[in-house]
Amino acid sequence: MLKTLKYTVLLSLTLLFSCTMSTQGFSDKIVIAHRGASGYIPEHTMESKVMAHAMNSDFIEQDLVLSKDDIPIVIHDIYLEEVTDVSTIYPERSRDDGRYYVIDFTLEELKRLSVNERVNLETGLAVFPNRFPLKKANFKLHTLQEEIEVIQGLNLSTGKKTGIYPEIKNPGFHLKEGKDISKIVLQILDQYGYTKKTDRCILQCFDADELKRIRQELKSELYLTQLLEFTDDIDHLEIYAGYADAIGPSIDQLFLLSHGKSLREKKHFIQRAHQQNLQVHAYTFRKDQHPNFDSFEDLLQFGFEELELDGVFTDFPDTVKDFLQP
Ligand code: G3P
Ligand code: CA
Repeated sequence: MLKTLKYTVLLSLTLLFSCTMSTQGFSDKIVIAHRGASGYIPEHTMESKVMAHAMNSDFIEQDLVLSKDDIPIVIHDIYLEEVTDVSTIYPERSRDDGRYYVIDFTLEELKRLSVNERVNLETGLAVFPNRFPLKKANFKLHTLQEEIEVIQGLNLSTGKKTGIYPEIKNPGFHLKEGKDISKIVLQILDQYGYTKKTDRCILQCFDADELKRIRQELKSELYLTQLLEFTDDIDHLEIYAGYADAIGPSIDQLFLLSHGKSLREKKHFIQRAHQQNLQVHAYTFRKDQHPNFDSFEDLLQFGFEELELDGVFTDFPDTVKDFLQP
């Protein structure tokens, strides 16, 4: 009798715990394909997303910027020239600052561009020289809707449950241009069935006021991640916990630059985040860029085992998945 009672109590506690996890976070450590499998194929191309899906990434990231005709385009910057041939195709379309803005082109115009590996504009060389060669193949830009349809289609055909991890880029810039990017993105996510925390869609933004607005004014019930650049003020965690479900600190902030913080203080920051029910998804883990660590594996070991991160954004999702294999 006592044994049965003990078993029932244990089972109830387990169920309670797993329910808590399903609403507040993910029980396993997650691998987020940063701009797709971007270590292998130019970032944010559909090919990089399909590859990331095939590599069993848990989530695939979409950075989002609006086109002139209000369509969310999957691209990292508000500018085009570092990842496309825009200056060749539309030489007259730069602004006075010499930059080519996504928001000045319609989707139809953007589709004429070819996408390449990211280039350093000063040197004309690839930012990551050992990745996909420059000016080879013919990759194209695509929309958020197109990418969701590919990921959801692949989920159906493969039986996987790969999630999406969209980022609202530069909401202040969009607002100055008269556009409400968050509203537009939320409508599309809703249309494709992403409305709740359990829908395997995590929405992220660096702009804290905008993420708060997404939760409070736009009434989104999605899982939200507050991205951080160099802000590691422990007092802010309580504020983030008021509207977000996770924080996304940078790897520089955590491992590389000291910012006057000791390892103990950094670990404490993550522990305090966990105490506030905030998961921690750090960016960006790269096999071909890990200063201060002898190997990528050392970096991963430090991130997952020492700091107890809950997830990482990585250009190499296959390697991180392998690392996490039991
Ligand atoms: O969104 C997480 C990470 O991607 C943030 O950095 O600059 O690559 O968008 P960024
Ligand atoms: Ca991003």
